[in-house]
Amino acid sequence: MGRELVTIQVGQCGNQVGRQFWTMALEEHAKHTKNGIFDESMSTFFRNVEHGYDLPMSQRIKNLRARAVLIDMEQGPVAETLNGPLGELFDSSQFLTDVSGSGNNWAHGYALYGAKYKEDILEKLRCATEHCDSLQSFFILHSMGGGTGSGLGTYILSLLEDHYPEVYRFTTAIFPSADDDVITSPYNSMLALHQLTEHADCVIPIENEALFAKVSSTTSKEKSFDGMNRIVARVLTHLTSSMRFEGSLNVDLNEITTNLVPYPKLHYLLSSLSPLTTKSPSYQTVRLSHLFNDIFHVQNQLIQTSPRTNGVMLACGLLFRGNVQISNVQSHLTKLKAEMKLIYWNEDGFKIGLCNVPSLDCPKNQPSVLALSNHGCIVETFDRMQQRFLKLYRRKAHVHHYTEYMEECQFDLALESNRWLIAEYNKLNSIQESPCERQLPQF
Ligand code: GTP
Ligand code: MG
Repeated sequence: MGRELVTIQVGQCGNQVGRQFWTMALEEHAKHTKNGIFDESMSTFFRNVEHGYDLPMSQRIKNLRARAVLIDMEQGPVAETLNGPLGELFDSSQFLTDVSGSGNNWAHGYALYGAKYKEDILEKLRCATEHCDSLQSFFILHSMGGGTGSGLGTYILSLLEDHYPEVYRFTTAIFPSADDDVITSPYNSMLALHQLTEHADCVIPIENEALFAKVSSTTSKEKSFDGMNRIVARVLTHLTSSMRFEGSLNVDLNEITTNLVPYPKLHYLLSSLSPLTTKSPSYQTVRLSHLFNDIFHVQNQLIQTSPRTNGVMLACGLLFRGNVQISNVQSHLTKLKAEMKLIYWNEDGFKIGLCNVPSLDCPKNQPSVLALSNHGCIVETFDRMQQRFLKLYRRKAHVHHYTEYMEECQFDLALESNRWLIAEYNKLNSIQESPCERQLPQF
């Protein structure tokens, strides 16, 4: 029986990332699905609205529907998807738009549009979920910096918690860069982060600054959102590969959450990919040693933190694709364990996944890896956010736009939540190798 994922893409960024994600998912299945016939591997992401055909993927798209809900409070990004080559993947039960957007204001998206569209959103979710046999997870794609993705996106997260409490809530959140053109992005990010901490099961934060750096270092020098979003799409297709394709060690999203999230609110996972670009000549033959050398290198991380030098690792998932043997992984893992600082009660804390089907960007069965780590160096990101937030909030700049829709104390609650998160991760960062056993419960 399939384990389905329903993707909910909210706001401009969510929908633009979604476009790259669906393009890549289709390309992947076109390449690897046997005989070109709809099978269980495709049912995680798609449903088949017609049976018994074996058309090439380009024609078959007419018979596929993505398990997705597309939401934006302006029309452009969703319309662009519907009018483009992916348009046939979605029908009218799957999208919801308004005309004016949330004006880069979290409170506008959360409170005003949340209340206005609550029933419509629930109806869209009902339509998407009634086609699933074994719905495993909701997958939200959104930015933290604008108003709709951050505000309405996190409102939807709490709707999911109320209406589908048994289904995992996985979120991919794009964090703004320091020079972001949304002046109010520090407020939106802080308010949204509070909601993610309270209502998500697992969050993969990805920083635009890190994506910019990757795109500008590729040979094409392409610095558009498309190039950046394709990297995010690689993370998402890689993350879900072993739910869709065969492998000797399958890891699904439940297992990731169970293994990598030791405390419910400390559910932020740093992601890094290796190889990140196969255009580089050094990657004409990818060896496992390359992957292990690079995986915690800043150039491979999608969030700008320093896991090799700062903080402690609580747990880590290493998800391999391509031709990789577990015995070879084990020998490299011993070295990696010696290099990273792992928390003393989880010194073997690596969850390994092996999926036979290589990543689309790695030809000839060459291996690749996605590392997801729950690591105390994430405080660097939360700390940066807090500095940017306080710069505005100390002067109460722009606050009046928000208090049209929410109480001012929500700013203070969000700030308090962020401080708590930093303190909790820092407590773990500062635990020494010989813990004071007296503080632990005695059994
Ligand atoms: P409103 O327009 O305010 O209603 O909300 P929205 O959710 O549509 O805003 P948007 O998603 O445009 O959020 C702005 C933030 O997202 C900024 O930090 C942008 O840099 C970033 N952003 C916008 N589009 C993209 C995209 O396609 N990819 C990436 N990586 N970032 C994006
Ligand atoms: Mg917008």
